[in-house]
Amino acid sequence: NAFNYDQPYRGQYHFSPKEHWMNDPNGLLYHDETYHLFFQYNPGGIQWGNMSWGHATSKDLTHWEEQPIALLARGYGGNVTEMYFSGSAVVDVDNTSGFGKDGKTPLVAMYTSYYPVAQTLPSGKYIQENQQAQSIAYSLDQGISWTTYDAANPVIYQPPTPYQDQYQNFRDPFVFWHEESRKWVVVTSLAALHKLAIYTSENLKDWKLASEFGPYNAQGGVWECPGLFQLPLDKGKSMKWVITSGINPGGPRAQLRVSRKCNCQLDGLGPDFYASAGYNGLAAHDFVQIGWMNNWQYGTNIPTTPWRSAMSIPRHLSLKTIGSKALLIQQPQEAWSSIVKKHPAYSHTYKSIPQGSVNVGTTGETIKLDLSFSAASTASKFAIAVRASADFTEQTLVGYDFVNKEVFIDRTQSGDVSFDTTFASVYRGPLAPGNNDMVKLTIFVDRSSVEVFGGQGETTLTAQIFPNSDALHARLVSTGGATKRVDLNVYNVASAWI
Ligand code: FRU
Repeated sequence: NAFNYDQPYRGQYHFSPKEHWMNDPNGLLYHDETYHLFFQYNPGGIQWGNMSWGHATSKDLTHWEEQPIALLARGYGGNVTEMYFSGSAVVDVDNTSGFGKDGKTPLVAMYTSYYPVAQTLPSGKYIQENQQAQSIAYSLDQGISWTTYDAANPVIYQPPTPYQDQYQNFRDPFVFWHEESRKWVVVTSLAALHKLAIYTSENLKDWKLASEFGPYNAQGGVWECPGLFQLPLDKGKSMKWVITSGINPGGPRAQLRVSRKCNCQLDGLGPDFYASAGYNGLAAHDFVQIGWMNNWQYGTNIPTTPWRSAMSIPRHLSLKTIGSKALLIQQPQEAWSSIVKKHPAYSHTYKSIPQGSVNVGTTGETIKLDLSFSAASTASKFAIAVRASADFTEQTLVGYDFVNKEVFIDRTQSGDVSFDTTFASVYRGPLAPGNNDMVKLTIFVDRSSVEVFGGQGETTLTAQIFPNSDALHARLVSTGGATKRVDLNVYNVASAWI
């Protein structure tokens, strides 16, 4: 990469655009040995606007190369008449769409057209002000350039009956191939109704309403960026359908529901994991998702420049029975480990850490930590302070609450927290101790984020932090008693930009 990605707060192993505003991951597609990552992008500024699809590619989901803009807001530079909101992409192997030419297989993207002004389209369709509808575009050159299907866009013109009045809140198509019925399936959100509408098609152009889902469970705010996919339960003993959606505000987390006959508990936690989307084009049992590592609450004010927002580490998803429930398991995708140093920079085992703290010393800006300890401890809390100043007035605490059985990230003193009144907070997620009563945390620290995978990955927390670049200290802190059988390994992580 010729570009210099060495700015303060620039994640060294989390994708971010060179410059300008980014939000949701879009069109995640694996094709021809390349992982595509498209994303909501403002080519003209560091705030949300002019929504276009940016593009990056990778061979290993770890090293990314930014590509030219894939879909540029129509009218950009003057009066924008159409923005390209979130969506997804597929490889149309059998050329069902007919977009393929000269034996070239088309990639087809399905996205939300957002029309800020009323207009009559080339397709003859009349569009009202602020209408959202689903459109398609195709690429015959590996996703580099795209042609919108102007002859008939939008292909899903309005919400299903009786919800037509929801035309300003109808978005985020996630499309995939359903082999059993040999049809394309798309799930879209009626965001304000907390409903999902599911359609099927034989050619990606003509869509028929198949079913509706919701409202279900958390019903505040809006539902955005839904997902519908199958995950292997217990290493593939069976496959279960999972439906997901982002909920904003009120916890920008994903909520999930699994098909009947599965006693499941699913949630994606932490303040900075939103609009997550999964990859099309992977093998059947393989499901990888990426989340936008930001939050609409304060996202446009985070202190980074000349870009705003990064993506989470790509994660493998599966379901696993733990105790009496099937839980969603998230694990960093394997290729990621290629940039983790083989030998720990710091490694230590402690029989017991009495109430108080034990210094770990200086660690890097970009590290991975494996921390385990016994739940049969007398402490009420145990944590590791990372990205801390020498006097620990600045620190991010990642730890465990033995009383409530919760993993937490405390970013109240994590550096710059001034840009939003809600940012300096503590975030929690339930985590039962594992085998031999041990609690296991895997912690990924980058220049402006902490991602925690608890246990086997059944609880994850993702939080942005904006520490000073010299806040590199770490220590273990046991509160209210002793913490037993502590094992800590700290590994340096190389930059993925180089
Ligand atoms: C989610 C979202 C989507 C929409 C996109 C617009 O973060 O609000 O619902 O398509 O962002 O940028």
